[in-house]
Amino acid sequence: MVPNGPVPQNFMEKQARFGKMPLWPVAKSILVEPPMKKILLLISLLAFLPLLIRYQRDHGDTDNNSGLPTAAWVLEGARVDKGGIPSTVGNWPLKLHAPPQSITAPVEALYFGGGLTGGSVLSQKNRPTPAPKEAISLLAWVRIDAGARKGGIIGRVEDNRYGAGGTYLGYDETHLVFGLTPGGPGIGEGRLHIIRSAKPIDKGIWSLVVATYDGKEMRLFVNGELVAESTDARGPINWYRTDSWSIGRFSDENEKVPMIGAIREVEIYDKALSKESIRARFAFQSARAKTVLGDSPPHFVIAPYLQFPDTNSFRVCLETSSPVTATIEYGPEAPFNLKTTSKEAATFHEIPIEGLSPGTMGYYRVVCQGPAGERLETAILPWQTAPKEGVPFSFAIIGDTQGNAPATGKVADIMKELRPNFALHLGDVVNEGHDKRQWVEELFRPSQELFGQVPLFPTMGNHEKNHPNYYKYFALPAPEYRYSYTWGDAEFFVLDSNKPMAKGTLQYTWLDEAMGKSKAKWKFCYHHHPVYSSDNNDFGDTFAGKRSLFGDPKVRPLATLYEKHKVDIVFCGHVHLYERTHPIKNGKLDEVGGVVYVTSGGGGGSLENFTPTPEWFKAANRVDYHTTLVNIRNSTLELRAFDKDGLLFDQYLRTK
Ligand SMILES: [Fe+2]
Ligand SMILES: [Fe+2]
Repeated sequence: MVPNGPVPQNFMEKQARFGKMPLWPVAKSILVEPPMKKILLLISLLAFLPLLIRYQRDHGDTDNNSGLPTAAWVLEGARVDKGGIPSTVGNWPLKLHAPPQSITAPVEALYFGGGLTGGSVLSQKNRPTPAPKEAISLLAWVRIDAGARKGGIIGRVEDNRYGAGGTYLGYDETHLVFGLTPGGPGIGEGRLHIIRSAKPIDKGIWSLVVATYDGKEMRLFVNGELVAESTDARGPINWYRTDSWSIGRFSDENEKVPMIGAIREVEIYDKALSKESIRARFAFQSARAKTVLGDSPPHFVIAPYLQFPDTNSFRVCLETSSPVTATIEYGPEAPFNLKTTSKEAATFHEIPIEGLSPGTMGYYRVVCQGPAGERLETAILPWQTAPKEGVPFSFAIIGDTQGNAPATGKVADIMKELRPNFALHLGDVVNEGHDKRQWVEELFRPSQELFGQVPLFPTMGNHEKNHPNYYKYFALPAPEYRYSYTWGDAEFFVLDSNKPMAKGTLQYTWLDEAMGKSKAKWKFCYHHHPVYSSDNNDFGDTFAGKRSLFGDPKVRPLATLYEKHKVDIVFCGHVHLYERTHPIKNGKLDEVGGVVYVTSGGGGGSLENFTPTPEWFKAANRVDYHTTLVNIRNSTLELRAFDKDGLLFDQYLRTK
């Protein structure tokens, strides 16, 4: 029987309209593959024909009347037209955000390198994008090369603290995930239910990933095998605040997480595909799943991040998988008329942008070029230079981001939402300074969005072990382990508390001289080890009946200098919790001339605890992942601390 309506222009679409599961994907595979593969696939098809005919008889109509997707795309270089890809089913053009990298071996596909990648399917006039209510399936042939804090393959989703909606097929650092928001119209602020594959992602290997929902059960399949299921979500899908589909990245109102990997096919169905039809689909294309890492154009190992802005310059650092030349395009606003290009192709770049004025802000974009002309570009990101005196500003603090990318990602998200001018890291940026994987996956990747728009001023923890990675990844003034900088009315002094700090040492003398010369209204110091702390067992073992020293005796001598030079707050990490002291001078409470000590080591490392009874200096404490934010405006300082859910749990005001 011939369907009604005009004959489709697109032959693929025509095939799709006439096809039935699982004939349609088989036919499609044959049509879109290169000639040699077509022959191989045809041979496979002939071999499987008797089985297929029986399958069609038994199962052909089990899914819905047509067995066809609502929308489908085949992502390959030859299909890219005017920065987009037409759909093979439906009329849903996929607009690509940057020139895509096309790969041909071993599977023809589009490669996304972690820059401004992926594409969007946008609502057209009076024509919203597909939003099935009762049931849905999302299908993709995909190769994930690197995990992400919140990775997306295909989704139309909103996931914020104030509400959620829609659905997505994606992944996290290690596993595939399927998220879906149930709830009828009017419920509005739904909750995104997420199921996670039982097995980790086979990174660099092609997989057929399918997520289904029938109004009662969420299921996730990899290569035809059921890997996760849940009956927690029920009822129609809630599409609250979502209107466009994103492919090749996670994207909602305030998050854009680019993908590192490749996509070949993506399909949306308005029904839950059956296990049998998913298995049959995989059976005919399973050769792809055996292919290991093939073409890999350059991708971001560490996405571009801001370093050391002063009054007339800032730096952009980045790392890629293979050598590229990197150009920073920048200016007060896009389109940019200024640019700086790296001198040579390399995998790591530290590019200074100079000749700027104090207190200015603008935007930048990084464009990398590979040896074969491959292009990798980022979204547009903001930069700024340090202002002169009198300009209000704020900074956020994180510490001890060790071995817990999900928690670090949550804290980094909160920091980003607080919109600080810059951020401080109190050390233990990773658990093992020599382990590059930890730098990439546990520090930079979960903080990627934050570090791309908020410059980070770090200090050295004990876990970095003074490794060259610290000096490579952070662009700081020599000797880097100690330095100072000014921002508006404040000056910051940064020390390495793993090195000697007693009176007469290099750092002690440097600090005394540097603070002596400082004319700043506000003075802050930070180093990793705490001067005062009510931690239960780092400096004693209080639950075993051993008194604590209430801080690190190696850094305590610095208190003399802090008091002498009227430092306002000293920030430390090392202890994985939050504590603020009362103002202290000469080891006693001094509300007028005392120094406040804040331990803010809740960036991801396993949490610690406090002594069973509080010491006299404790003003506020909290065991949780968190960030601390400080606002400065003229003679007023306002400090607030927020937990990983963004809830305020401490506040402190200081005026002068
Ligand atoms: Fe730590
Ligand atoms: Fe530490």
